Amino acid sequence: MIAVKENLISRRANSVGRTKIRKMYELEKTLSDVISFTVGEPDFHTPENIVRACEKALAEHKTGYAANQGVLELREAISERTVETHGVKYDPETEILITAGGMNALRAASEALINPGDEVIVPDPYWCNHFHHPLMELGVAVRVPVDASSNYMYDVDKLEGYITDKTKTIILNSPSNPTGRVMDRATMEKLCKLCIKYDLILISDEVYEHIIYDDTEFVSPVMFEGMRERTVLCNSFSKSYAMTGWRIGYAMGPAEIINAMLRINENTLASPTTFAQYAAVEALRGPQDAVKNMVKSFEKRRNILLEGINKIPGLSCPALQGAFYAFVDIRGTGLSDDEFCERLLLEKRVSTTPGSGFGENGAGHIRMSYALSEEDLVEGLSRMREFVESL
Ligand SMILES: Cc1ncc(COP(=O)(O)O)c(C=O)c1O
Repeated sequence: MIAVKENLISRRANSVGRTKIRKMYELEKTLSDVISFTVGEPDFHTPENIVRACEKALAEHKTGYAANQGVLELREAISERTVETHGVKYDPETEILITAGGMNALRAASEALINPGDEVIVPDPYWCNHFHHPLMELGVAVRVPVDASSNYMYDVDKLEGYITDKTKTIILNSPSNPTGRVMDRATMEKLCKLCIKYDLILISDEVYEHIIYDDTEFVSPVMFEGMRERTVLCNSFSKSYAMTGWRIGYAMGPAEIINAMLRINENTLASPTTFAQYAAVEALRGPQDAVKNMVKSFEKRRNILLEGINKIPGLSCPALQGAFYAFVDIRGTGLSDDEFCERLLLEKRVSTTPGSGFGENGAGHIRMSYALSEEDLVEGLSRMREFVESL
């Protein structure tokens, strides 16, 4: 046996564990005929025009390193798009960084801003990486419970009670994973005022910006006065353009923070794949019909899911406004969320994720990603009904 050092693994690596999403996913892979509601990935192919743009970039030998900040043309396209969507102009030269997906944008923001001991406010239930990133910087993730009474978004008055002199940033995710909810304008305005009052930085994860339903309004903190200078906006091509495997995202914010994030990425990633960045230019500048059709499709599935779930005795889920997740209350079944998910998978071959995997406050709930075909969705709901009726 090879002798290994004590404390071989760093505190950073030991600060994070595997997620319950992965655990369920790995278990479902050992079984057959499983209908999976676990992984948050669009089931659509990347639109053809984007694939063609990538082929063209390859044929033109755009295969060398890109600038560490990302291809300038892509930064320009993002800047133009953000003027349309947010009414805010970011300078492509100094205020935009191209990243390897939204995940790298969020992580680089944490690395650039968090010192050991700094406190980061996250909602509970949270998306796992939002909770893990501050921990990986040896910071402190302060969980603020959110629930149906505030549409699973921050209750800003309650949040204020969690602010201390160590609080550095607040993580905001609207539309949200895992709850599928969207922050309304009045709450956003209140949250922004709080950030200004306590001199806090807001990390706004907007990767589901375009996946929003009915007449729900998408609101970003940078639309409010005084927030552009204290917000790091993280976004991605993964969800809106069905480009999860391309690993292209971006961060926008004050030049000083973007420059710090650039220095972090320069020492870890350099820049994301060059030809994939050219494909992302086409995603923004080309026709947007594919995005609209995907959103229409998600909306139809959301309706099927909500109707089906709310008809199963013991399960309930109020209205969902965005992303492609349902956070379903299963407390009426008398089972814990872990037990519910495990038995549902083993007995009926339907895979879902325990809500407690997204924080203590998620217990008694399950997360269902409805990025799957209508046929599978209907079959999955029928199996769930059989399961609950058998209890
Ligand atoms: C809320 C949220 N933010 C960020 C991401 C990261 O996506 P990507 O790194 O693929 O852009 C995800 C992916 O699941 C997500 O759900």
